[in-house]
Amino acid sequence: MKKAIILLFFVINVNVIVAQKAAASIVLNVDLSKDTISRHIYGQFSEHLGSCIYGGIWVGENSTIPNTRGIRNDVVAALRKINIPNLRWPGGCFADEYHWMDGIGPRDKRPKMINTHWGGVVEDNSFGTHEFMDLCEQLNTEPYICGNVGSGSVEEMSKWVEYLTFDGESPMSKLRKENGREKPWKIKFWGVGNENWGCGGNMSAEFYADNYKRYATYCRNYGSNRLFRIAGGPYGDDVKWMETLLKNVNSTLMQGVSLHYYTVRDWSKKGSATDFNESDYFTTLVKCFEIDNHLAKQITIMDKYDPKNEIGLMVDEWGNWFDVEPGTNPGFLYQQNTLRDAITCAVNLNIFNNRSGRVKMANIAQMVNVLQALILTDGPKMVLTPTYYVYEMFKVHHDAALIPINMKSPSYQLDGKSVPMVNVSASKDKNGKVHITLVNVNPNQEIQVECDIRGADKISKGFGRIITSKELNSFNTFDKPDNVVSADFNNFEVTSKSVSVKIPAKSIILIGLN
Ligand code: AHR
Repeated sequence: MKKAIILLFFVINVNVIVAQKAAASIVLNVDLSKDTISRHIYGQFSEHLGSCIYGGIWVGENSTIPNTRGIRNDVVAALRKINIPNLRWPGGCFADEYHWMDGIGPRDKRPKMINTHWGGVVEDNSFGTHEFMDLCEQLNTEPYICGNVGSGSVEEMSKWVEYLTFDGESPMSKLRKENGREKPWKIKFWGVGNENWGCGGNMSAEFYADNYKRYATYCRNYGSNRLFRIAGGPYGDDVKWMETLLKNVNSTLMQGVSLHYYTVRDWSKKGSATDFNESDYFTTLVKCFEIDNHLAKQITIMDKYDPKNEIGLMVDEWGNWFDVEPGTNPGFLYQQNTLRDAITCAVNLNIFNNRSGRVKMANIAQMVNVLQALILTDGPKMVLTPTYYVYEMFKVHHDAALIPINMKSPSYQLDGKSVPMVNVSASKDKNGKVHITLVNVNPNQEIQVECDIRGADKISKGFGRIITSKELNSFNTFDKPDNVVSADFNNFEVTSKSVSVKIPAKSIILIGLN
């Protein structure tokens, strides 16, 4: 009897242990790389919205906050560390009501306007074209300017391109020189409107496609400058908009099409950025993973109309959208940023990497103080969010060769739905080093992951990094900036052909191999 009880106790415990163990297996096909992960997937977005530009980036030359020609030094220094490849500006919805000529010349003479989209505040145009180009030069990043289709004219857009990029004698180059810039700038990425099915003019797809051709025709290539013109594309899985555009415009006029998708629980009930339970977290995850299906659908249409893959898919707005922080202006979209944001950021970036055959750019919304920001500021104070640390960790993938992956992962299930527990991408850099970024989205359970590194020469252990924290809703504050940061991670074994790693619950990991 005693023996039977002991045996029963043992069986029950073994079962509990077995039930608790989760395992995934991954094959990295190192020799089958064919696509490059464009560094532009790690792009940023800064709109004249809330305190993204004013306060977050631009403080003016007379500010007591340390600045270079009016641009905050602390924000620039933090962003330089993560090598941001491009910066989209001035919107968003703001782009289609922005008149660039209001933002040049002596600042005290620039007209003021109402920012009707974002809080109805006064926009004094003190941050305009020259200030933005200075910011890009300070950041060592490529500008991505979005022109006004909704309320602007073909002439206005065409003159902006001329003002920025023409080296000869013309009215616009003369004006630029009078405003202090002798030599033209180089501009590659040029957006022709934003969300033109909505805030950018409420157009039909047919009407926009026709207009796109008019606007894009007069966005000229001056001298050696070559524009990469990007059409205002669809939202989510609206393939009708994509199809209409591609049927009507080809790659001579359009080098990219944008796609927007926000991870939102419910547009009328977005939920708090910091006060949420596991079910809310799970809903955010489900919505986050949906982007992969949207990309698949859009890419199918692009493959049909652009089989030579000459037009890039540019996910130039994406990220988590929650309720604004209590007590802040609802029009300013200021939200805190937790480990949950870091996890969905890493999932999105892995998804974009894996689709880099067609996805050539992505821009998280937005860089500072708005939506899923990398940086939050308050007067002279600045804090880096958990999302920032994901960009820091993932920069190893910039312009590296994508490694195709096969994966078998258990799912993380709740409320009758499921998502894969492990999410991954991998790349080989120009020095032949392999980097793997892995996410365990399950907040309750660690997972054992076995990676078979096939098609590579002998590998050896390099380094590991991890982002995690005690709670899913841990976040960084001005007083406690280190609640969610990245740290060294050593809990993995490497043989000449494999990696074995135990990923803690709710964590993001980078493994570097030599
Ligand atoms: O990023 C905030 C807004 O979201 C952008 O201005 C607009 O393009 C989108 O709807």
